Amino acid sequence: MTDHVIVADDGPVRTVRMNRPDKKNALTSAMYDAMAAAIEDYGGNATLRCLLIAGVPGAFSAGNDLNDFMKVAMGGNGLGREVLRFLHALARNEKPLVAAVQGVAVGVGTTMLLHCDHVVAADDVKLSTPFVGLGLVPEAASSLLAPRLMGHRRAFSLLVMGRPLDADSARAAGIVNTVTAPGQLEAEAMRAAREIAVLPPEGVAIARRLMRGAPDDVVARIDEEAILFKKRLTSAEARAAFEAFLTRKR
Ligand code: COA
Repeated sequence: MTDHVIVADDGPVRTVRMNRPDKKNALTSAMYDAMAAAIEDYGGNATLRCLLIAGVPGAFSAGNDLNDFMKVAMGGNGLGREVLRFLHALARNEKPLVAAVQGVAVGVGTTMLLHCDHVVAADDVKLSTPFVGLGLVPEAASSLLAPRLMGHRRAFSLLVMGRPLDADSARAAGIVNTVTAPGQLEAEAMRAAREIAVLPPEGVAIARRLMRGAPDDVVARIDEEAILFKKRLTSAEARAAFEAFLTRKR
């Protein structure tokens, strides 16, 4: 159990909010588990018809907690099950996912958006995936989904070069549908979620499945990336990058 994820149902819409503002919503194992459980349960709940993933002002998510990465880099084996449970839940989920993204969205904070069906962004958003710079490799099937969505060159700029996307670039790249002022973000995202929630659910599920295809290749890519990611976590390059962040002077 964690207070860092708040799950709230309002009629047919479930909101899953990452809520660790003092750490910019860096994700811990407990948070991954709570988010996975909320998505899995949504799948089996006929009353719920749309799930909205949200953060807090200034932070959708700073990505995986680097302290946890550091533990693995130093030889611990704490990482894996919860992250994979969350990523599999995202990929295997068959019902609509909406995201309201604002502020920083780093690593999985960006790659989870590739699994969403509708994304509303605040104009202060900065999407970034500094995997390679951290000595790591892309995850969450982003190595498959990002090139599919935006083409190889733009995906390379994001996933390998680590160049961030601001709100307008993210919309141009197809990750984001709508850009709003931060104060309008939640209302706009909830409007979209309700719009989806009143549609006939079976029709939505069938159309979604036709458009996204079977999840098997996505799940397989998540697993393939995870093996490489875990190996990279113990590389000297990764350890040096985590240490630099965790001991930086400010
Ligand atoms: N893991 C652990 N702690 C994190 C974190 C992360 N991924 N991201 C932020 N934090 C912590 C900071 O250490 C800081 O904690 P402190 O106040 O106890 O020192 C707090 O959250 C606020 O972060 P700060 O860096 O002061 O905020 P900022 O607005 O200047 O910068 C980020 C925000 C997200 C750009 C910056 O924190 C960052 O680069 N984080 C690392 C992101 C990352 O590499 N994620 C992994 C991707 S694979």
